[in-house]
Formats: sequence, structure tokens, C-alpha cells
Amino acid sequence: MTSSFVFDDAEHMRALFAEETNGNIYSRFTNPNTTEFVDKMVAMEGAEAGVATATGMAAGFASIIGLLRSGDHIVSSRAVFGSTHALLTQFLPRWGITHTFVDIDNNAQWEEAITESTKMLLVETPSNPGLDIADLSFLGALAARRNVILNVDNTFATPLLQRPINYGAHIVWHSATKWIDGQGRGLGGVVVGRADLLREIYLFARNTGPTLSPFNAWMFSKSLETLHVRLDRHCANALAVAQFLELHPNVERVMYPFLASHPQHTVAKRQMKSGGGIVSFIHKDGAVGGKRFVDGLKMASVTANIGDTRTIVTHPATSTHARLTEEARQAVGITQGLVRLSIGLEDVSDIIADIDQALQ
Ligand SMILES: Cc1ncc(COP(=O)(O)O)c(C=O)c1O
Repeated sequence: MTSSFVFDDAEHMRALFAEETNGNIYSRFTNPNTTEFVDKMVAMEGAEAGVATATGMAAGFASIIGLLRSGDHIVSSRAVFGSTHALLTQFLPRWGITHTFVDIDNNAQWEEAITESTKMLLVETPSNPGLDIADLSFLGALAARRNVILNVDNTFATPLLQRPINYGAHIVWHSATKWIDGQGRGLGGVVVGRADLLREIYLFARNTGPTLSPFNAWMFSKSLETLHVRLDRHCANALAVAQFLELHPNVERVMYPFLASHPQHTVAKRQMKSGGGIVSFIHKDGAVGGKRFVDGLKMASVTANIGDTRTIVTHPATSTHARLTEEARQAVGITQGLVRLSIGLEDVSDIIADIDQALQ
């Protein structure tokens, strides 16, 4: 915990600033805690370099703005987190960076949307909150063939369930706030990937300031030591909840990548080790049913986060994705009856009992 580091002497200070020697200068640039966290994430993702950021959105923003410039174009999956959607539609156009949305599982659309100006393919898989899946093998090959950067938000999967770099991704980012912290304690993010690209992103973060606090970096480093144990339990609980919901008469449809009924089930099985800890479903009584379900839960917390030890419920159409137009929500299947559950570490029979009584 320090803002800056003491140099041995004036020559040491000069050499550090000139990058002739390794070491810490100032915690906006690097800090031993953030370096430890980044190094762990780099190893887990099979990347070459990384940068830790203050939030997941800072990671996503840095991964784009650190590499692109005015006139560049992004092809993005339509189904992205609400703030990523806002970044693409409301902020990046101010700096002349445009985008085309495509359906995440429509490979022909990805291919056709690429223009002369396209510099990046951006994808979130599984997507929040619809759990749509992109075919990473296809996107990796496409990015290589068309010479564009493949940038993946891997928040929902974590490197334990899916390693996009194995399929050709150049950049991978996370909201560390979610499964990486896993205990609902603090915000953070991380970008990892190819060394030359990460150098640009590092310089952007170092000079504009969205870097991670040493305290949160220490916390996330400790969290990574338990990630495998936590995720095993989250995923097992989530699959059991998804299977339970699928048979429930008050449920219209369940979205979970490891259910055979998921439209991209085969792709999910190929590229993911497990289905993850999020289960979304559509209540058969639409908005009224969805909201009554949320209010009926006794154990689960009603909150906007995911990836906590506790089971969490959210109604995306009126919260995380409320700022999208109804048309934009419909295009990615975020109907008024959609409920998102982040399945916790509680005993699965308690989670299912709570969901069951709320559905009743
Ligand atoms: C898939 C995904 N990406 C990015 C973010 C943004 O992360 P943060 O809230 O840490 O900025 C979230 C947050 O919910 C998310 O679910």
C-alpha cells in the first residue's frame, strides 16, 4: 500500500523512467500487488502481458481506446453488457470509432460486417444476461484471415472455464469484480493478451489513470487461490438449478450453455469446461411474473452484481439493461420476463427451495 516508491538515487530514478531497469515508480504505473495479480491472470489465460484496471469497464474501455483511433470500425456481438453497449453506441462514436452489431452465433454476419476500416472484433461469450455463445474457433480464424484484433470479454467464463487465446484471441478482458473476486467485496478489471498490444494499453492506462488500487489487487490475488474450488461449486449448483427450472411449469425457457436445449450447446461444450454460474430464464407470466419472482425470493439477494458467494437475482430489463431501447433489448432476447440468477455457494437444496417457493 503506497502511492510511490523511493529511488536509490537520482541515477536510479532516471534509469527507471527511461525503462532501462525494472522496478516500480508510482502506483498508477505499477505496484508489486498489481503485478502479482496481472502475472497470475497472464499465466491463467496463456497471455504474454497484462494490465490491471479499476473496474471491468475500465478494462474494456482501455482494450479498445488504447488500440483504436478515429476512423476505425469495430464489429461487435449485439448481446453485450449494458455499459459495453453504451460505450459502443454513445461514447466511441464521439471519437469517430464506429461499430456494426451482429448476431453472436451468425458466422456469415461476422464475416460480412468486416469493412476496410474494421480493426477489431469484440465479443462477450457467454453473454450477459442471455448466455449466448460465440464460436471462438471461427472468430479466431476469421480475425487471423482478415488481419483484425479479436477482443474477448471473458468475465462470465473466467480462464478456468474458457481460454480465448487458445482459439486465436489477441486481447482478453475481465470484470474482476465478478467471479475473480467472487465475494462481492471490491471492483476491478484486467486486460491480458499479446505483448505489443498490451504495451499500448499499458501506456494508455498509465497516462490516463484507470489503474487498479494495490489493496484490490492483493484481494484479487488471494481470490485466485480459491477460484477453482469456488467455480466447481458455482457451476454444479447452476447446472442443478437450470435443470430444475427447465421442468418447472411457471418457466417458459431456461438459458444455460450446458443444457442440451441451449441453441449453441455443442459450441459451448467444445470451448468451455463447464457452463458457468449464471442461469437466466423467462417467466411464463412475463414482466409481472418476473418481478413477482424477484420479490418472492427469501434467501437470494436482489442486487446488480454477479459472481458472489451468495445467490443473486436481477431483472435485467429494468436494471442492468434498462437504458437500452425496448427494440435493442428485444434484438438480444432481454424480454420483460427474463430473470438472471447468479448462483451462489449455498447448499443447492436451499437455493432450489428458495427458487421453487418464489415460483409458486
Ligand atoms: C460481462 C461483463 N463485462 C463487464 C462488466 C463491467 O464490470 P465492472 O462492473 O467491474 O466495471 C460486467 C459487469 O456486470 C459484466 O457482467
